[in-house]
Amino acid sequence: MGSPRFASGPRTSVRRVSDTQTARPESPEEPGKETRRPVAVDLFAGAGGLSLGLEQAGFDVVAAVEYDPVHAATHEFNFPLTKVLCADVSAPLAAETLRAAVRAGMETHAHDLDVWDGEVDLIAGGPPCQGFSWIGKRLIDDKRNQLVFHFLRLVSEVRPRYFVMENVPGMAKGGHSSILGELIAEFEDAGYRFPDESKYRILNAADFGVPQERHRLFLIGTREDQETTAASPSATVQPVPKRPSLKKLATDSTLPIGPSVWDAIGDLPNLNRYPRLRDFDEVKLSNHTVAAMDAAASEYARRLRRIDDDPKDFSHPRSWDRTLLTGSTRTVHTPKSVGRFRATKHGHTEPVSRFYKLDPAGLCNTLRAGSGSERGAFTSPRPIHPNLPRVLSNREAARLHSFPDWFRLHATKWHGFRQIGNAVAPLLGRAVGRTIVDALALTPPVSAEVVELGDLKLLELTMSQATAHFGADEAYIPAKRTRGAVPGAVQTDQEAAVDPTTTAADLPAQTESAEAEDSEREPVEV
Ligand SMILES: C[S@@+](CC[C@H](N)C(=O)[O-])C[C@H]1O[C@@H](n2cnc3c(N)ncnc32)[C@H](O)[C@@H]1O
Repeated sequence: MGSPRFASGPRTSVRRVSDTQTARPESPEEPGKETRRPVAVDLFAGAGGLSLGLEQAGFDVVAAVEYDPVHAATHEFNFPLTKVLCADVSAPLAAETLRAAVRAGMETHAHDLDVWDGEVDLIAGGPPCQGFSWIGKRLIDDKRNQLVFHFLRLVSEVRPRYFVMENVPGMAKGGHSSILGELIAEFEDAGYRFPDESKYRILNAADFGVPQERHRLFLIGTREDQETTAASPSATVQPVPKRPSLKKLATDSTLPIGPSVWDAIGDLPNLNRYPRLRDFDEVKLSNHTVAAMDAAASEYARRLRRIDDDPKDFSHPRSWDRTLLTGSTRTVHTPKSVGRFRATKHGHTEPVSRFYKLDPAGLCNTLRAGSGSERGAFTSPRPIHPNLPRVLSNREAARLHSFPDWFRLHATKWHGFRQIGNAVAPLLGRAVGRTIVDALALTPPVSAEVVELGDLKLLELTMSQATAHFGADEAYIPAKRTRGAVPGAVQTDQEAAVDPTTTAADLPAQTESAEAEDSEREPVEV
């Protein structure tokens, strides 16, 4: 099988175009609230799940830092107005470099630098917590090398009004909790306070309208001179159970019922109809298919397809082609695997691959990232489609993560799926961002302009092409590490990294190469 390519030609990367057809209505002014879009920086930004959630909450994400050039390029594609720094935060990235990026990103977002008070409203980010499991004695002795402390350093130096640090729940467990405790104490010493007694909160994306069970730890800090402490967000929906046959919905909740797996993907066409998707990431749909999708789309899918307006979405509208199905390169399985996938019941794990078969009426299990080339390129397990004998496509996974259909991932299935598994689900990022917009007492104006997405070539760059694109220093990008080069270096970017109980046997078996992911594998954790 050839590597996925794009047929369409390149587009200009940054262009703001007026388009009254797709522009959103202006947000009404609210009494006692200033009308402006607050300014945010996203550190460890990946492809931009958190960036998108913050933008939907009303922020302009003016700068983003990501050291993997493939992810940085995908971020640049989706957020052409953001200044993307492809840099290692621990190099260390200087606060002045970040401030210069903020100014550059404010200009492309059309902020008037002459009236800017010089304040950054929010620094957000999900620094991987490297933990103790593989790093060895050197870092146990020198916790300051941990990326979470570089996050603290940049917050202390730039001094944003608020900060949000996202991590995996394992950060509050076992040996890692001492890092968390130390970090919280240092944020307090640096002049930040927290909303809760426990200082951190573990939030489930499913409580915020994402059809996926996904728990993440959040630290939401408020600078001591700010009048209002940013609160932790409250649930917006009552999630359906992961396996409705085992657990019923509670009847005492007044919240609306959240979306199911089928609400998220039920309108997407059967990929087997498109031979082109064996080699390409995208296919042009007929008008008839688009109409059938529109008719089948749930309320959740209609918002992700931008059929319906979402009054709580303050993001800049993007120009995109809704007749193009993207992120949908097919995975072709052996007849044996197909038989096993078919025989597996909804809500059960297929015993050989250990892939979880989704229940259409339930929630998706946590989508995981696997590990990057610097940590051995471990492939993450993908759930099995509820009605078809194959694993999910990246678009289906993106839908289950609350990414809108205009948002694109790297064209290579492995990179693309990893970008989803690593990402904060945008709807969860939006809910967290909204609490800060509320604390700032702002009404973010909704853009009257449509932003054109970046050059499609950004989505098919190899690691070395992407490094060259950013003019990045090869010494600071994630180095390729071959299997077994670092004993025990088996964790994913975040998930396993902070779980001290994780062993090689718990983790996905490694594929021969990133592209060879469709082959049969040893048991994996799901
Ligand atoms: C959990 S992911 C963040 C995902 C992102 N918040 C989102 O919502 O899409 C962590 C990211 O940090 C990046 N990263 C790891 N070490 C880094 C470093 N030293 N400097 C900059 N980025 C780093 C990884 O490549 C990865 O994309």
